[in-house]
Amino acid sequence: MPALQKPLAAKAAQQDFARGEGGNVKLTTKRGIGRGILSAVGMAAVFLVGAAPARSQGGAPAGQAVPNAKAQPGQAQGAGQATSAASGAKPLMSDQFFKNVQVLKGIPVDQFLGTMGFIAASLSVNCTECHAAGGRGMIRDYAADTPKKQKARQMMLMVKAINQTNFGGAHRVTCWTCHRSDTQPPETPSLMVQNGAVAERDPNDIEVPDEPIPSPAADQILDKYIQALGGAERLAGITSLAAKGTYAGFDTDLGKVPVEVYAKSPAQSTTIVHRSEKAENITTYDGRNGWIAMTNTILPVKPLTGGELDGAQLDAEMFFPAGIKKYLRDWRTGFPPTTVNDQLVQVVQGTTPGGTRVKLFFDAKSGLLVRVARFADTALGFNPSQVDYSDYRDLAGVKVPFHWTLTWTDGRSEFEMSEVQPNVPIDAAKFGESVLPKAATP
Ligand code: HEC
Ligand code: HEC
Repeated sequence: MPALQKPLAAKAAQQDFARGEGGNVKLTTKRGIGRGILSAVGMAAVFLVGAAPARSQGGAPAGQAVPNAKAQPGQAQGAGQATSAASGAKPLMSDQFFKNVQVLKGIPVDQFLGTMGFIAASLSVNCTECHAAGGRGMIRDYAADTPKKQKARQMMLMVKAINQTNFGGAHRVTCWTCHRSDTQPPETPSLMVQNGAVAERDPNDIEVPDEPIPSPAADQILDKYIQALGGAERLAGITSLAAKGTYAGFDTDLGKVPVEVYAKSPAQSTTIVHRSEKAENITTYDGRNGWIAMTNTILPVKPLTGGELDGAQLDAEMFFPAGIKKYLRDWRTGFPPTTVNDQLVQVVQGTTPGGTRVKLFFDAKSGLLVRVARFADTALGFNPSQVDYSDYRDLAGVKVPFHWTLTWTDGRSEFEMSEVQPNVPIDAAKFGESVLPKAATP
């Protein structure tokens, strides 16, 4: 039953972690759930990292350019570039907020936690693998050192040195390069793998080869998409959306809870997940700044910076797809033929104004968008996340996806809309700081 284990383990860790505010809840180690199970890591990261179960359309931790591509210039060098370009606000820094940070200093707290998610995902371990401090494993004990944590610090320095010496400081070698969901990377080539069937490649990893595959220009693919949605003119006629539906994630035991989604052109969006009567996840982007608020977490309101902020912007933009051609830049095509969920897709890559690399996957037949994948920079590598769209329905002459699934290194959430209203007035207070829980606003 491996399929079941993942959510269960993840959920358990998440609950532990979610309740862990104030450090009074024990974090149990979810060891032994096997490799390949991102599991527990996961939800803990979600909650602390806020990697966005609440994210709307686009959904996830956002990214910064170029995970695997050698060929890409301008690759982000690390999470140092913190401040949101838009706001200029001073973010909360890792070594100010946490107690025992020796390597990952001077990066914003959201990126520090994103980095923790990245290493936990790379090794497929739970947070407590390295943080089972003092036998009690409380969150405040995460500051305490353990042998594995020390080892991980050493590995961070090793990776940094490898990249600086050989790759101009780019994230070419990361924890994932060696670990691949294992704590003990193999050193001997496997004859079984060498002679076995070729494993399917994750479509998110597919890159343009040195000799690009002949394919339609990005413009053509995007025009087909806009046409399939109802045409630029009709799309431009929609300037706001207010939707209701259900959300299900590990943080709700996979149970469905109510969600509200609001979007207003240009580029504002808010998603409110009512996890329970007393607990909400709120993700909001007001056109400049973004936050993720989650009740009962160590960081109840997390301002977004860098790639995460970029992702919130992308989410908001994706509600108004007519603008996408202008919003993303550095378009690339020429990817090998690829399938997503068994559908043949055309892949187009773009870059957000903040430098986040985004891949768009369009159904080769219908032209509709089936996936957006993005790559959020952390201090050690790029965290991938994806939103899969489905159930396109007619609404005021255009097509709108009523269902989307957000998947990222730490979890998976389903959004299912029951009602979407176009062009209803939405109070400005629904976006940005004003929608955050008052007491918790930093
Ligand atoms: C592979 C080992 C490893 C895993 C797994 C791991 N961490 Fe860490 N964690 C570290 C190391 C190493 C540091 C110290 C970093 C430094 O010194 O710059 C750290 C520091 C932290 C801190 C700062 C504590 C303080 O007050 O100083 C927090 C919070 C944290 N980790 C959260 C997490 C979360 C949440 C997860 C799960 C998503 C996680 N960690 C998974 C190795 C790990
Ligand atoms: C160049 C390959 C390579 C890279 C890159 C790498 N590791 Fe490792 N790592 C290893 C090897 C090999 C071992 C096993 C070492 C041993 O047995 O002593 C290991 C062991 C570990 C362990 C101990 C695991 C255990 O259960 O004993 C931790 C923790 C760890 N690595 C964390 C990291 C982190 C975090 C990163 C990214 C910052 C990273 N590693 C990047 C090769 C690598």
